[in-house]
Amino acid sequence: MRSTMGLSWKWTALFSLLGAILCLIGPALAVKEHEFKKCHQAGFCNRNRALADLAASQSSTWVSPYKAVFESPSLEDGKIQGVILKTINAAGDTVRLPVTISFLESGVARLTIDEERRQNKDIELRHGSAARKERYNEAANWSVVGGLEPALKAEIVHQDDSQINVKYGPEGNFEAVIRLSPFRIDFRRDGVSHIELNERGLLNVEHWRPKVERPEGEENTEEDESTWWDETFNGHTDTKPRGPESVALDISFHGYEHVYGIPEHTGPLSLKETRGGEGNYAEPYRMYNADVFEYILDSPMTLYGSIPFMQAHRKDSSVGLLWLNAADTWVDITKVKGSTNPLSLTSGAPKNTQTHWISESGIIDLFVFLGPTPQDITKKYGELTGTTAMPQEFALGYHQCRWNYFSEDDVKDVDRRFDKAHIPYDVIWLDIEYTDEIKYFTWDPHSFTDPITMGKQLDSHGRKLVTIIDPHIKRVDNYPINEQLLALDLAIHDKDGKAYEGSCWPGNSNWIDCFNPKAREWWKGLYKYDQFKGTMENTFIWNDMNEPSVFEGPETTMPKDNLHWDNWEHRDVHNLNGMTYHHSTFEALKSRKKGEYRRPFVLTRAFFSGSQRFGAMWTGDNLADWGHLQTSVTMLINQGISGFPFSGADVAGFFGDPEKDLLARWYQTAAFYPFFRAHAHIDTRRREPYLLGEPYTAIVTAALRLRYSLLPAWYTAFFHANRDGSPILRPMFWTHPSAEGGLAIDDQFFLASTGLLVKPVAEKDKYSADIWIPDDEVYYEYDTYNVAKTEQGKHVTFDAPIDRIPILMRGGHIIPRRDIPRRSSSLMRFDPYTLVVSVSKDGQAEGELYVDDGDSYEYQDGQYIHRQFSLKDDVLSSVDAEGRDTRKIKPGKWLKAMQNVHIDKIIIVGAPASWDREAVQIESDGRAWAAQVVYHAADKDRAAFATVTHVKARVGDDWSIKLA
Ligand code: NOJ
Repeated sequence: MRSTMGLSWKWTALFSLLGAILCLIGPALAVKEHEFKKCHQAGFCNRNRALADLAASQSSTWVSPYKAVFESPSLEDGKIQGVILKTINAAGDTVRLPVTISFLESGVARLTIDEERRQNKDIELRHGSAARKERYNEAANWSVVGGLEPALKAEIVHQDDSQINVKYGPEGNFEAVIRLSPFRIDFRRDGVSHIELNERGLLNVEHWRPKVERPEGEENTEEDESTWWDETFNGHTDTKPRGPESVALDISFHGYEHVYGIPEHTGPLSLKETRGGEGNYAEPYRMYNADVFEYILDSPMTLYGSIPFMQAHRKDSSVGLLWLNAADTWVDITKVKGSTNPLSLTSGAPKNTQTHWISESGIIDLFVFLGPTPQDITKKYGELTGTTAMPQEFALGYHQCRWNYFSEDDVKDVDRRFDKAHIPYDVIWLDIEYTDEIKYFTWDPHSFTDPITMGKQLDSHGRKLVTIIDPHIKRVDNYPINEQLLALDLAIHDKDGKAYEGSCWPGNSNWIDCFNPKAREWWKGLYKYDQFKGTMENTFIWNDMNEPSVFEGPETTMPKDNLHWDNWEHRDVHNLNGMTYHHSTFEALKSRKKGEYRRPFVLTRAFFSGSQRFGAMWTGDNLADWGHLQTSVTMLINQGISGFPFSGADVAGFFGDPEKDLLARWYQTAAFYPFFRAHAHIDTRRREPYLLGEPYTAIVTAALRLRYSLLPAWYTAFFHANRDGSPILRPMFWTHPSAEGGLAIDDQFFLASTGLLVKPVAEKDKYSADIWIPDDEVYYEYDTYNVAKTEQGKHVTFDAPIDRIPILMRGGHIIPRRDIPRRSSSLMRFDPYTLVVSVSKDGQAEGELYVDDGDSYEYQDGQYIHRQFSLKDDVLSSVDAEGRDTRKIKPGKWLKAMQNVHIDKIIIVGAPASWDREAVQIESDGRAWAAQVVYHAADKDRAAFATVTHVKARVGDDWSIKLA
C-alpha cells in the first residue's frame, strides 16, 4: 500500500481519513509476492539448483569438473596462488580460473576465484553494451577495512600430487587441506574438520561464451541455453550483455545443526532448511536488497538489506563465513544426519548443515572463520568489515517519528505535549512531506517557513530533528539539485549510458550514483549548513529507499543492466548500492561546517556488510500486529550477531493501527531495541504516547523511563560494539556457548554484558512469559528483587501483567543507571549515577561504565571515563577499566564537568546478612568518608538488599567500599 505522493498536507490529511476508513474495511495487508522472483524465475538460481539436483541424483558418481593447479606451490605473504581448470566438455577443454588462498594473521582464511578470460577483457559484450568486461572484484574495497595482514607464520606442512596442507591460525592449530582434483578445501581446527568447500561438488563458475545465433527452431542440443541470455520477468527484460556468469559453491559445516546470520529475513534465528519438507522452506534464502513493504513473516524472501555472513554453532564451537559478493544471491540450506567426512567428530552426531551459495555475477571472495568461540567470530568479522560507529548519545534515546509531522506547528505541538505529559524523547523526525514537492534539500514553503526557529525550540531542551533525504532526485526544471546532478553527470546510467529515469515518491526521478567519487564529493557539499538552509547542529539525517526503490522497476528496484560509475553493471553492485549512499551521507554530515568535528547520525534502510560503520538501520515497513512484534526481536538479534547491532523496528508497526495492548507490549520490547523509534504510515491514526489514555500512557511512559534510566548501560554496550563488534542483544548461544538447549532460542536476549535477561511478550492476552534459563546462577527479577525460582536449562514462567515484561538480573553483574527522570538524554548528561549490583551465588559481581561527551571525537584523545566495577571479598570497588593513570589525562571541558558527577546511590541485591549495617566507609584517593546504608532482610520471595545512599564517590575516580 503505497501512499500519496508529494501532495499538500491538506490533501494528505483527507487521504489519511479515507485511508483509515479503507483500512477498516479493506483486505489484509501482505506483500505482493508475485512481484519478486522465486528461484526458478531467476535463470542463474534455477541453473545452480538444477546442478545441485543432478549432483545429488548421481551422488556416488558425480565428480566436480574443477581441478586446481599450483605450480611449485609456496606461501608468499601468506598466499598460495594458482589456477583452477574447469573442464567444459567431453573433449576435455578447460577454462582457467585464477585462484588465491590467503591466510591472514587474524586466523581468517580467504579464497578468491576469478576467470582469466574476463580478467583479460577477452570477451564480447552483447547489445553493444558499454559495461565492464571483468567480473566485479571491488566489493572488498567497500566492505573490508582491516584484518588483511598476512599470516607470515602460515606454512605448508605437507604436499603431494593430490593435496596441500597449510597450517595457520593464531595458535597454529588451524589447517586448510587443499585437495587438487576435484578442487576442495577442508578447514580443520585441532585436526577436526569444521568447514568444507565443494564437498558436494557444486562449485560453478559460469565461464564466458559467445551467444551462437541459430536458425529459428534449432536449439543447442548439448546444453540448455534457455536462461542464459535476455531474461524477462513481469514485463521487464534484462539484456544480460555478458550472458551467464553466476558463481556458486557448496559449503558444509560438519557437525553443526545450527547456522545463523545472512540477514535480512523474517524466519527463526537458527536458519531453516530450504529444500522443502515439513516445516522447511521450499525456496532458498535470498539476498537482493528490495523495497518489500508489507513483508511476510517466516519467509526466506529478500528484504531491504543483506549481510552475506553466516555463523554455525554447536556446543563449545563456532565457525563462520563471509561470502563477499554484492550481486543477487541465494542460499540453500539442508541438514543431513551424520557426516560424510571421516575427520569430522560427528559421524554419529545428529546433523551437519550443508549450504549452497549462488550469486548472479562477480568473483568468489570468501572468508572462513574457525572460531572457536562466538566472540572470536564476532571480533574477526568486525576487524574485517569494521564495527558500529560510536553513536551520538542522543541516538540511543527515544525517537518520535511518523509519516508525517505536517508543519512546524505540528512539530512544536508534539514537542510541547511530550513535555506536558512528562514523557522523555530525544528526536522528532520529518518524513518526505516536509519538502517542497519531494525535492530534497528544500522545505515546504507553506508549512515549514522557519525551520530554524523550530530547530531552536527543540534544541532548548536538548532535542534533535531528523529529516529524510532519499537518493532519488526529482526530475524537474528549476530544481538546482537535479540540474547539477545531470549537468555533472553524477546519476546512475541506464544500459545505454543516459541518466536512468524511474519513478519514486517525487514522480519521475534520477538516482545519485555514490560509486562515483565526484558524486560523493558533490553530496557532501549539499549538506553544508549554508547550502541545506534550515538545518542546524541538531539536524540529522534519515536515508530511505536506497535499495534503491524504483516503483515500476523490476522487483521494485533498478534494471540489472543499468550502469554505475566506471561502467560496472548494477547487477554486480546492487547490494552495495545502499551502503555507498549511507556512507556518502555519513561523510557529508562530518563536513557540514569547517572545524566542526562531530559524530553523524544517519539511519539507513538498505545495508550490506560494512554498513555498521555509518549508523543505524531499521527493518522497514512492518505491520502493527503481534507476529511482527515477535519477529522484530529475532531480526534484531540476528542483526547483532551479523555485525550490525545498531538496529530497530518501527514501533508499534508501520502499517495499520495497533490495538493498545499491542502498543504497550511493543514499547516494553522496544525499550530494548538498540535503535528505538516509533514510526507509522501516513494513513494511520496518531499514536503519540500522550494520546493513548490510561493506563496505556503510563505503561508506555514507564517503558521509556526504563530506557532512559539504563542509558549509561546502553552507551557502554555501544562502546563495546564499537571496540570489538560485539552484539548488544545477545542470544543464548552467544552468551552461553556450552548450553545446548539454548542454541535455537531467539525470543529472549541478554542486554550486552549487563546480565539483564529480557523476554518480550508478543502474544495477545498473554500475561505470563516463559524464560529459558541458561545457567545455574542466581537470577533476580529486575523490579521486585524477587529471587527467580530457576532451573538451569529449563523454561520458567514469570508473571507479565500488561504493565511489565519479565526482566531478570543475572547474579554477578553491576549495572550503571541514571535515575532522575528528565525530558531528554542530553539533560541527563551530568546527572549522578546509581549502581545496581546483583550479587552472584558466590558473592561476586562485575560491571562497567563507559561515558564520553556523546557527540564529538574527543574520546579518541582520551576524553572519556571507563570504569570497571567489581565486588569481591565483600569489597565493592571502581578502577579505570584500562589501567590508565587518569590523573595524567588533561581534562577538556566535558571531562572537567564530569569531575563533579558522582555515584550517588548503590543498590546491592542479594546482599548477605553480614552486610546488615547502618553505614559503610568509602575510600577514595587517600580520603575516607561514611555513607548511609539501609539493609532490607530477605522477605518471602524477595532477596535481601542494601541501599547505600549519599555515596558521593566521583564517577571518574578510584574508590572502594568495605561492605562487611
Ligand atoms: C518508506 C519507508 O520505509 C517508510 O518508513 C517511510 O515512511 C516512507 N518510505 C515514506 O518516506
